[in-house]
Amino acid sequence: AATGVPVPLRINGREHVVVLEPRVSLLDALREHLDLTGSKKGCDQGTCGSCTVWIDGRRVLACLTLAVAASGHEVVTIEGLADGDQLHPMQRAFIEYDAFQCGYCTSGQIMSAVKVIEEGNAGTDEDIGEFMSGNICRCAAYPNIRAAIRHVRDAAGGRS
Ligand code: FES
Ligand code: FES
Repeated sequence: AATGVPVPLRINGREHVVVLEPRVSLLDALREHLDLTGSKKGCDQGTCGSCTVWIDGRRVLACLTLAVAASGHEVVTIEGLADGDQLHPMQRAFIEYDAFQCGYCTSGQIMSAVKVIEEGNAGTDEDIGEFMSGNICRCAAYPNIRAAIRHVRDAAGGRS
């Protein structure tokens, strides 16, 4: 039988209650209890960025965040990015610019990339490199990732 406590979690605008041991990470709660497997487990120790999600609008590493700590907060995962059938502009840009190979790092890259632009830290390639440095791509798709980010940055600028 599951030992644990009921943990209310608000994810992608929907309320869930999962019964978890208090030490379970948000990443394991998402992947193993909620079937939200878009957030990937690369390292499980805070060094690869593949588990990046947003909590209250800020990017965090889900492998380093306890699920109980996310309770009462607004969690957004890659599954929450598209608007129905409409991909998020960053998702579209990643496809358009071939910004992935194996794809394992991609959801984390996208979750970070959206915030790097929102935070105003995508001004130059150097900035993008620095503020995306927590997201490792073992396939070294970095040039195309940066191109996708530049594209969304410039499109967003034109919209204001
Ligand atoms: Fe979380 Fe690598 S799985 S940073
Ligand atoms: Fe393979 Fe980034 S696309 S790790």
